[in-house]
Amino acid sequence: MLVGRVVYSPHAHARIISHNLSKARLSPGVAAVLSSADIPGDNQLNPVARDERCLAADEVVCAGQAVYLIAAETDAQCRAAERLIEVAYEPLPAILSLDEAIAQTRLLGPERTMQRGDADAALRASPHVIRGELRTGAAEHWYLETQASLAVPGEGSEMTVHSSSQNPTETQAVVAEVLGVKKKDVVVEVRRIGGGFGGKETQANHVAAWAALLAGATRRPVKLRLSRDDDMIITGKRHRFLTCYEAGFDDDGKLLAVKLELNSDAGIATDLSFAIMERAMLHSDNAYFVPNMSVKARVWKTNLPSNTAFRGFGGPQGMAAIETIIDRVARTLGKDSAEIRRMNFYGIETNNVTHYGQTVERNRLQTLYEQLVSSSQYSARRKAVQQFNSAHEFEKRGLALTPVKFGIAFTTTFLNQAGALVHIYTDGTVLVNHGGTEMGQGLHTKVQQIAAAELGLPLERVRVSATDTSKVPNTPPTAASSGSDLNGMAVKNAVDTLKSRIADAVVAMFNEQSVSVPSRGTDIVFSNETIFDSLHPERKMGFAEAMGHMMRRQVSLSATGFFRMPAIGWDKVKGVGTPFRYYAFGMGVSEVELDVLTGAVTMIRTDILHDVGNSINAAIDRGQIEGGFIQGVGWCTTEEIKWDPEGHLLTHSPDTYKIPTARDLPIDFRIDLLKDAPNPNAIFGSKAVGEPPFMLSFSVWLAIKDAISAVAGHRIEPEFSLPATTEAILLSIEKLKTAPREAPAPVPA
Ligand code: MTE
Ligand code: MOS
Repeated sequence: MLVGRVVYSPHAHARIISHNLSKARLSPGVAAVLSSADIPGDNQLNPVARDERCLAADEVVCAGQAVYLIAAETDAQCRAAERLIEVAYEPLPAILSLDEAIAQTRLLGPERTMQRGDADAALRASPHVIRGELRTGAAEHWYLETQASLAVPGEGSEMTVHSSSQNPTETQAVVAEVLGVKKKDVVVEVRRIGGGFGGKETQANHVAAWAALLAGATRRPVKLRLSRDDDMIITGKRHRFLTCYEAGFDDDGKLLAVKLELNSDAGIATDLSFAIMERAMLHSDNAYFVPNMSVKARVWKTNLPSNTAFRGFGGPQGMAAIETIIDRVARTLGKDSAEIRRMNFYGIETNNVTHYGQTVERNRLQTLYEQLVSSSQYSARRKAVQQFNSAHEFEKRGLALTPVKFGIAFTTTFLNQAGALVHIYTDGTVLVNHGGTEMGQGLHTKVQQIAAAELGLPLERVRVSATDTSKVPNTPPTAASSGSDLNGMAVKNAVDTLKSRIADAVVAMFNEQSVSVPSRGTDIVFSNETIFDSLHPERKMGFAEAMGHMMRRQVSLSATGFFRMPAIGWDKVKGVGTPFRYYAFGMGVSEVELDVLTGAVTMIRTDILHDVGNSINAAIDRGQIEGGFIQGVGWCTTEEIKWDPEGHLLTHSPDTYKIPTARDLPIDFRIDLLKDAPNPNAIFGSKAVGEPPFMLSFSVWLAIKDAISAVAGHRIEPEFSLPATTEAILLSIEKLKTAPREAPAPVPA
């Protein structure tokens, strides 16, 4: 096996005037040095938009863009060869910020709007209007396993790629394209991913393509694993957003109109930017009914690595604006923000249709609110926080409750499908294949549980194989939190097929033994490792024994399964319809303490109540809630991506980029799953859980704002953006201290 290395652009934008690879090629241990000229197929990484080169040809468009590939016996030899590559760049002007991109109208594609009612007219008629701008930051995925692929050439044009990809089918397509072969020739296998978080939905394809090119050129297995620094420099991040908002509301705090303009920084290429912006638009209402709403969205192009999917997929960016609005409404009226939230929640019978026309069914917001306000002792703690703040000058506490309503389904409707392949062997054990990938979210465990429960077997009889494009083809990525909804159903479908075949054969056997009252297929039950007739329980057979009979009776014990999500569909052009199968709901209350002199924040307590339907695996679901929430807290507080003025990433390792660690959990962290909340629209009454809890971190973000606001007695709206880093908090406090106190005193709550 050879080791692969990718050599990337040091410039944000430059022409490649000339290069000479001959010295590098002769360097010891080197098996190949490739440039774009050595790509046998298409020099393309995006199979849809086709705007991202696999290797730069004559121009580089961002720092970190792949230009050359090296394969050598060792990593040290790769690095030595890299130093021998001679290349002359002519730097060109680069656009490195959203503001510059907007000023130079560098739109990546057409703008979109979604609207209901007449926001402008309603704003004019509103008793109160607020306006503002909110910036939310980029973020690094920081999956623990960096992007990695092992490509193994087979006979003829065969190529097998072991990839850390959330999207094996697309990885297969991209590898086939760059190699100039067909999909039948490429197998992508994913055993498990060391964390993806969206960062491996498209961008694992790149590393797979590079490894495959090197393996193809050398005819030897090549493993390419990015170092942490290279991974952070080369791959895209969460999209930065700049959102301009206007909101009108009445004296009680009821929203009358909201007008939003969402701007995202796509980086240099399309990647998933438009789908992400679409989800941002579809979540800019979060949990609130806004009678007159207009959302305009623009995706901007900069000379930075193409930004990509990241847990929440635009949802967090869309929700941040409306949560800011609600927070300001409360401060403007001198009311408790939780109260303003509750009054604006989607209703059950009325006010229950979103700005894109989907009815919010089985709305659990009010239930969650009541239970959480009570279990977190919200009101008593609000008073305690006020008392604490009046007694302390240099420490301020803040408290915030925030909801999440997250739509489940890919908004690109056709992606809502899944396939499975299930084999039963004659010893009664089961091998399950499905199109989803395991990335730590516990999908394979849930699928194993589903198959075992349906067949009436203990878990250890069922194994879930690695995801493999040669076993289950043409799959969507494992994303949009829909992994178990889709693949669980596909596996159940395959198991149902097998069970009906087996039931028919078993009935024939029972009837051969006792013809008095014939058994019927519909009465056959699979339970407790046995197959029996529920009307004549004495007619039974051990599962394993039965499988031996199936082989002898020439019954196929292998079946494919398929699932297509029903009852969804929407008009992307008009922005109206039912993009989601259902909504996941959750709510969080966080309390923080702020050191006014240093800006340091301590998370004192967080209470979360989350709706996961009938949980298939409560331990996994709690893990997703904890992990998602804390990942969100990182984005909201300490994680800040910085570039230098030439577009080089400054925060490219853990010493400059601060993700939350075990020490950054709330001191008192309480998570509950909503009880008695079955979901008729997903497997076993469950609900998707992968992304929604991420956005509960707004409770921490707004608790920090609440604490800052206490510095000026809640009379002045603090300047605030996301992330609320220590530096940002201190600046915000300083501005409050010097601000004129023209704002009205708050009305007592
Ligand atoms: N949990 C772990 N441990 N690792 C991950 O990479 N990805 C998240 C979420 N939870 C992720 C995770 C993202 S972005 C999504 S979309 C879902 O898991 C995908 O898996 P699911 O659809 O099976 O929930
Ligand atoms: Mo998740 S961002 O949909 O991979």
